[in-house]
Amino acid sequence: MSKTEVTIKITDREGVTHEVQAPTDMNMNIMEVVRAYELAPEGTIGICGGMAMCASCQCYIISENVELNEKSDDEEAMLWEAFNVKPNSRLGCQIPITEKLEGLELELAPES
Ligand code: FES
Repeated sequence: MSKTEVTIKITDREGVTHEVQAPTDMNMNIMEVVRAYELAPEGTIGICGGMAMCASCQCYIISENVELNEKSDDEEAMLWEAFNVKPNSRLGCQIPITEKLEGLELELAPES
């Protein structure tokens, strides 16, 4: 039987770290997990609905040992325009939850 949940550590915008279980079989992404656990106030994350068009779901990837999917051109373009972008920035809505994410640590970027 394959594992259907991964453990992810998410540091919210107040600096509090939450360890959450994210399902790998529900077609979710990081942004949706943050919303499901209410780790950011409603209306401050996922504004475009996960279309890589708002950057409200920007996060910084802290763990170095977890391999993520490549950025799409749309994600690259949005991060080019966004504020507070760092080399380890990603758009949470563009990272699907898969078994590969076990142990991932990330921090939510400030609201902009
Ligand atoms: S939710 Fe808008 S870019 Fe991710």
